[in-house]
Amino acid sequence: MKIRKAVFPVAGLGTRVLPATKAMPKEMLTIVDKPLIQYVVDEAKEAGIEHFVFVTGRNKGVIEDHFDRMYELDATLSARGKKAEMEILARDQPEAGAISFTRQQAPLGLGHAVWCARDIVGDEPFAVVLPDELVLHTPGCLAQMIEAASKLAAKSNLIAVEAVPDELTHQYGICGVGKRNGRVFEVDGMVEKPAKGTAPSNLSITGRYILQPEIFRILETQERGAGGEIQLTDAMIGLSKTQKFYGVEFEGERHDCGSKAGFLRANIAFGMVRPELREGLRAEMKKYSAH
Ligand code: UTP
Repeated sequence: MKIRKAVFPVAGLGTRVLPATKAMPKEMLTIVDKPLIQYVVDEAKEAGIEHFVFVTGRNKGVIEDHFDRMYELDATLSARGKKAEMEILARDQPEAGAISFTRQQAPLGLGHAVWCARDIVGDEPFAVVLPDELVLHTPGCLAQMIEAASKLAAKSNLIAVEAVPDELTHQYGICGVGKRNGRVFEVDGMVEKPAKGTAPSNLSITGRYILQPEIFRILETQERGAGGEIQLTDAMIGLSKTQKFYGVEFEGERHDCGSKAGFLRANIAFGMVRPELREGLRAEMKKYSAH
């Protein structure tokens, strides 16, 4: 199963991190020195993705600008001999024609955002990557999933899962666990935000998916679910009646950068793996942890 395209839904309002997201997209929040969206595009590139599909919305134009060439900046950096900075910009630039943008006119939910990409994706399996969730690991989370998919039958769907504390399962989409082969297992039912004490496991659905194009037909008529939004999990439950779903317990820690605590933690975790920042950051943390 070859996965060529990845869909990045970036049309949400980011209310959990207001006021940062009042005039700026959540996906442009910076972890150390890179916006979230650049991290996930890099992760997709590393996994072999060839085409990057963004589902944008109002106030998200700067995401398009981020992946464009900025001639004035290039010219100024060149005139000043700033070679290293020019190389970073060139490295982050997707190849011409390898990037598409479509627009979700209203934030009706993640399922609806994915459905907006149907014509660009066409009739082939594809990845969905949520930019507000970062996993610090090499190989990246999507590369691990694509590797798992390569060993499964065609028409398989995969979801990245992570264990959460039992007492928090009611806050997540949770998977039931069937036959297991190492870190990969057959999904035996999915439930969005199960009532306390009823979760089939403690494995939560996270922000990386490999889906078959049949999901679009289900999304087309998917009714609003939790929070009044068109939920991707509900459509996956529909598709699981006719196609197999597998959970992948990926290696690496997930950071929910769409929450304030998760965003701060991600900055520390990603800062600590940068050799030029590690010592200074450690000293600062020591100072502040004494408060
Ligand atoms: P979230 O639920 O985390 O994002 O969706 P949100 O709605 O922007 O954030 P809060 O909960 O209000 O703080 C995960 C991803 O799905 C996108 C978001 O942009 C985010 O990248 N999304 C969500 C859409 O593209 N459209 C939607 O209608 C909802």
